[in-house]
Amino acid sequence: MALWLLLHLPFLGLGLGQPSFPGHSPRASAAAWPALFSRDSPEAAPEALQIPSNGSAPLLVTAQVFVSNVFHVDILRYTVSSVLLLRLSWLDTRLAWNASAHPRRAVTLPWDSLWTPGLTIQEALWVDWRDQSPRARVDPDGNVELYLALTAETNCDFELLRFPRDQSDCSLSFYALSNTVTELEFRAYAVNEIVSVKREYVVWDLKTQVPPQQLVPCFQVTLTLQNTALKAIIALLVPGEALLVADVCGGLLPLGAAERLGYKVTLLLGCLVFHSSLVQALPSSSSCNPLLIYYFTVLLLLLFLSTAETVLLAGLLARGSQGAKVQPSLVPGRGQQNHENPGPAPQGTPGGREGSGGSWAEAADHVFFLAYVAGVVCSQVIFAGIWMWMVCKSDPAPGEAAPHGGQPRL
Ligand SMILES: *[C@@H]1O[C@H](CO)[C@@H](O)[C@H](O)[C@H]1NC(C)=O
Ligand SMILES: *[C@@H]1O[C@H](CO)[C@@H](O)[C@H](O)[C@H]1NC(C)=O
Repeated sequence: MALWLLLHLPFLGLGLGQPSFPGHSPRASAAAWPALFSRDSPEAAPEALQIPSNGSAPLLVTAQVFVSNVFHVDILRYTVSSVLLLRLSWLDTRLAWNASAHPRRAVTLPWDSLWTPGLTIQEALWVDWRDQSPRARVDPDGNVELYLALTAETNCDFELLRFPRDQSDCSLSFYALSNTVTELEFRAYAVNEIVSVKREYVVWDLKTQVPPQQLVPCFQVTLTLQNTALKAIIALLVPGEALLVADVCGGLLPLGAAERLGYKVTLLLGCLVFHSSLVQALPSSSSCNPLLIYYFTVLLLLLFLSTAETVLLAGLLARGSQGAKVQPSLVPGRGQQNHENPGPAPQGTPGGREGSGGSWAEAADHVFFLAYVAGVVCSQVIFAGIWMWMVCKSDPAPGEAAPHGGQPRL
């Protein structure tokens, strides 16, 4: 049965302080219930496995949390994987001994031979308790010290508004579900022991708190994670800006030149590729979506607008020049005119020589160019302003008002 406990308790949140007296094997617990009730049950449970009492006050358990690694941050699944070491200490006077009669500085005991707080992490998807049978260290006064190393993947609501420079608070809430707040109270400290800096997300700050008004003893560790990756900036923001500048420069090509349309369409296709890869790389949520997605969508619309304008005005210009050519084609000097202007675009020549239709299109192109440059500058300024000053507050969680970790109240 001890083996059963060792194998199964780590998955249940470790150290639930299961009584291990004969006849109450957890495997046979369903069958043992009626027998247990008919017995004088409080006396049947071994005293050493009950929580040490502190008179009318709750037992004080000091929890130190050493965060030694945050090795994976998955923004698409909203999860953080971290390695923690917990040091729990409390006073259990029942384990004290007479130091002058037994001169020993400390003894180690298997964790399931004494009471230990059972911990469950609320946000965890999975927890891997490294040492499946940790040993507690007890000194002559009865001070118990228990180290627990764990790897956990936990859920975290990242605030991705400023995506490549985002910063989020991720909490890990440890609950001792088998005790009540009148029996047990946590005092928590956190220590940042991260030595590796070659990470996309860096733990900037570490806080602990004991949330008030809980039904179950609890302490919370909050990691402040900051994205320090340059990758997204180099791979997305710089090409995006370059596309925009290249598009504005494309407006300087003469409207009649055939390269202009090809140039703009190529830029539009390039922007589409960036946009779709960005949309795949970022998660979407109900609130506070990354600003970068809106930015690239506006960029795509701007490039689309300028390409459409080029197509439209080049078409008008070609029609105007064709209309203008129909009349002078009867004039004998037409061959000479073509020779004079060896441009790559035979049907549309710059210079407004085609007549009023052509000059009208070029004037419109000029006005559009100025408006387009103004629009591009405005959009950049607006995005910079939003980036600097916008504060995004996610919608409140539906379960936030209820006290956490308690048994369902009927
Ligand atoms: C008992 O409770 C008092 C008051 O809260 C506290 O100062 C003391 O440390 C507690 N003792 C133990 C053993 O937890
Ligand atoms: C501890 O042991 C010593 C030596 O055996 C004895 O003199 C002393 O009274 C004991 N103290 C307690 C509190 O039992």
